[in-house]
Amino acid sequence: MQNQANRLQEIVGNSSSANKNKNTKFIAITSGKGGVGKSTISANMANILAENGYRVALFDADIGLANLDVILNVRIDKNMLHVLKGECSLSDIIVQVKKNLILIPGESGDEILKYSEQFLYERFFQETSALDDLDFVIIDTGAGIGDHIQLFLEAADEVIVVTVPDPAAITDAYATIKITSKSQPNIHMILNMTKNEREAQLIFDKINKVAMANIGGGLKLNLIGKLPEDKIIAKSVKQRTLFTNDAPNSQASMDMKKIVNNLVYKLERKVLKSGMDRSFGGFFKRLIEQF
Ligand SMILES: Nc1ncnc2c1ncn2[C@@H]1O[C@H](COP(=O)(O)OP(=O)(O)OP(=O)(O)O)[C@@H](O)[C@H]1O
Ligand SMILES: [Mg+2]
Repeated sequence: MQNQANRLQEIVGNSSSANKNKNTKFIAITSGKGGVGKSTISANMANILAENGYRVALFDADIGLANLDVILNVRIDKNMLHVLKGECSLSDIIVQVKKNLILIPGESGDEILKYSEQFLYERFFQETSALDDLDFVIIDTGAGIGDHIQLFLEAADEVIVVTVPDPAAITDAYATIKITSKSQPNIHMILNMTKNEREAQLIFDKINKVAMANIGGGLKLNLIGKLPEDKIIAKSVKQRTLFTNDAPNSQASMDMKKIVNNLVYKLERKVLKSGMDRSFGGFFKRLIEQF
């Protein structure tokens, strides 16, 4: 047990237990329709944050095809569910992607609900203390408006809804925004696969107009950025690399950096809920209590 914790600390590279910052920000990336670029964006966002010296974990809440393990070209075997059931330890499932960046293979929530009575919580939360020094956890949720996805969105500090210009995706993004606005008054959007800034802004303005007219509750929508439709992005995904590494000076990478800057700027100025355990363990506890 002690060895496992030590190994985790080595992976995360954190400081002594005396000065753990326990000040992790949780960013959920979601969408209405599938295949709009959530995992690509999550992985590249995490990569840029890590390059900037932040300690980052990618949490894959969407166990399916072509997700983070595929995009990052790493092999995963077990996930969070196995840890909660005590079948392995947290350090067994965590994959170090590069300096400052780890992948935590997660669970969609459905299975967690099914087995929750068998969980070894005490051991789990003891282990998660090795993650107390993370600056960011980027959560790649599945697409759609399922109950469990909503729990991740509710528990996150910032929610980013990704859409592409196609009308079906926009309709589904709107449905996600509408439901999520019940728990999150501030929602960000990324317009992916756009032709240019103008197209992104026009689409956003349309969605925002409809949202302001029809969704109450003080909802504030914010366009946090756009990404171009770009062969570089598709190619990197295909060859299991990150476009922010392959083409750091491309428009796509510049746009991704702008998104990250906007996000960090927002978070630095945000007064986060106080009196809350802002660690990975604390986040998971809140989540499981809701399941
Ligand atoms: N800006 C872009 N330009 C070109 N291709 C892109 C762009 N963004 C994403 N893609 C391509 O779209 C496909 C889907 O991307 P990705 O897997 O990231 O979407 P997703 O929302 O995570 O999908 P799912 O809902 O299935 O998890 C990938 O093949 C990727 O290469
Ligand atoms: Mg995905």
